[in-house]
Amino acid sequence: MRKLAAGNWKMNGLAASLAEVKALTEAHPAPACEMLLCPPATLIAQMAGAAKGTALMVGGQDCHPKASGAHTGDVSAAMVKDAGASHLILGHSERRADHGETDALVRAKAEAAMAVGLVAIVCIGETEAERDAGRTLNVVGTQLAGSVPDGATAATLVIAYEPVWAIGTGRTPTLPEIAEIHAFIRARLTDRIGAEAAGVRLLYGGSVKPSNAVDIFALANVDGALVGGASLKAADFGAIVAALSAA
Ligand code: PGA
Repeated sequence: MRKLAAGNWKMNGLAASLAEVKALTEAHPAPACEMLLCPPATLIAQMAGAAKGTALMVGGQDCHPKASGAHTGDVSAAMVKDAGASHLILGHSERRADHGETDALVRAKAEAAMAVGLVAIVCIGETEAERDAGRTLNVVGTQLAGSVPDGATAATLVIAYEPVWAIGTGRTPTLPEIAEIHAFIRARLTDRIGAEAAGVRLLYGGSVKPSNAVDIFALANVDGALVGGASLKAADFGAIVAALSAA
């Protein structure tokens, strides 16, 4: 499978930030891995325009589970696709925490994304308190079971394992811990969707930087990264793309 370098700009970026897209795509015209940036909804169409004809794919960070209707402020999966996106990040821990998103809601959003032909990047991961209580595998297993739609395939689903305590903190699990959890996710996903699970990209996310990318990408069952802070600058994200391309 081709590995995936996915960047999550979160609530960052104005039109001027598209200069980073130009720099990134000029520096990495044909990376060996897939390259994706997920800007705020306001920039999807502009970024998709800037990425046209390059190796860069563009994604969204959320959608409403319904196709249309009276939901002020929301966007549907079809709208995100219409703006030029190919992927949707769903169930990010910041949305689970800030907006009370449950596994059932994340699953409904993932179904909506898949229904219009978008790849759903479903995020799971434990909090620090859950980790300290020794509940990491339990929490991750429950989120996986509840958030992944039936019938998901390697072509429609990506899983991002992001320990909440590692996001934006500069801290990461140890390499053996990442390997253990990714192996666990692969096994649980196989229980859930069968042989398709072997081809589903499992991304690690949480303080991925150029300095730790090579070691993390060498681990079994790590098929890419979901990158927040280090995706905002073309030089940093480009270094991660290069590390993943060489892995
Ligand atoms: P970070 O964020 O790379 O800034 O830690 C990762 C994420 O939230 O996807």
